[in-house]
Amino acid sequence: MYSSFQLAKKYINYQLTASNGKGHGIHSPFVFDFVNKILNDDSEQPCYARIEQQRKALLHDATLIEVEDFGAGSAVIRSNRRRISAIAASSLKPKKYARLLNRMVNYYKPQTILELGTSFGITTAYLASANENANVFTCEGSPAIAAIAKQNFDTLGLKNIELTEGDFSTGLSPLLNRLKKIDFAFVDGNHRKEPTGEYFTKILQQATPSTILVFDDIHWSADMEEAWEAIKSHETVTLTIDLFFMGLVFLNTDINHTQHFTIRF
Ligand SMILES: C[S@@+](CC[C@H](N)C(=O)[O-])C[C@H]1O[C@@H](n2cnc3c(N)ncnc32)[C@H](O)[C@@H]1O
Repeated sequence: MYSSFQLAKKYINYQLTASNGKGHGIHSPFVFDFVNKILNDDSEQPCYARIEQQRKALLHDATLIEVEDFGAGSAVIRSNRRRISAIAASSLKPKKYARLLNRMVNYYKPQTILELGTSFGITTAYLASANENANVFTCEGSPAIAAIAKQNFDTLGLKNIELTEGDFSTGLSPLLNRLKKIDFAFVDGNHRKEPTGEYFTKILQQATPSTILVFDDIHWSADMEEAWEAIKSHETVTLTIDLFFMGLVFLNTDINHTQHFTIRF
C-alpha cells in the first residue's frame, strides 16, 4: 500500500486536476444527471441519522473481538484481537461515500445488490435503506464482525439484507450462481489486484447492461491502481468515474464510445 504521505500527495493532485463534472468535456446526459442529481445532492434522508448513531456506538465500543485477517484491507491493525472501536475507525466507509451509494441505489433502483466486505454493516445499511424493495446480499469473512453487523441490521429494522459468512474465494461463486443477476455491486474487501480482478470477472458473468459496479480504494496501492486500469480497459466497460476513494463502472450508458472521467467529490 502507499504511505500516508504518498496517498496524500495523490489525493491533492486529484483535487487539483479532477473535473467538477460540469465542464466542456462532459456532453453525456447520463454523466450530467449523475453529477447534478446524485453526486452533488447533499440533502438529508431520514435513515442517515439512525445509521450514523450505530456508527457512533461502534466508535465508542472498546470490546475486544477475535478477528481473522483476510486481506490487504486490514493493514492498519494487524493483531487478531481488536477493539470494535479501532475496526470501526479504520475499516468503514465514511458517511460521505456511504451516502453517495445510498443515493445511487435510490436513483438507479437496482433490484439485486451485492456488497463484498460487510464489516459492521454500516454501508450495507445505507444500501439497504435506499430502497426497501431491493435485496442486499453482503459477504463477510470474519464471524465476530459478521455477528455485530447482524445486530446492527436488527437494531435498524432492516429486513432486506442477507449476510453470507465466509471467505469470498469460496462463498462468492455459489452466491452469484444462486442470484443469477447482479444490478449493483460494491467491492470493498481484499484490496489486491488479483482478487479484485477475479471478483470483477465473476460479477460480470451475472451482470446486465445496466449493472453498476463500485470498487473501493482504487488508489490505495500501485497494485490496486493496476487493478483499476485493467477494469477500465475491459471491453464491456463504457464509462468509468474516478472519485479517488471509489471507482464507478458503468457497462451500458448513452455514451457510444468508452469514456473515463475523474470527477471531484
Ligand atoms: C473495508 S471493510 C468493509 C467496510 C464496509 N463495506 C463499510 O463500508 O462499512 C472489508 C471487510 O472485508 C472483509 N474481507 C476482506 N477480505 C475478505 C475475504 N477474502 N473474504 C471474506 N471477507 C473478507 C474483512 O474482514 C473486512 O471486514
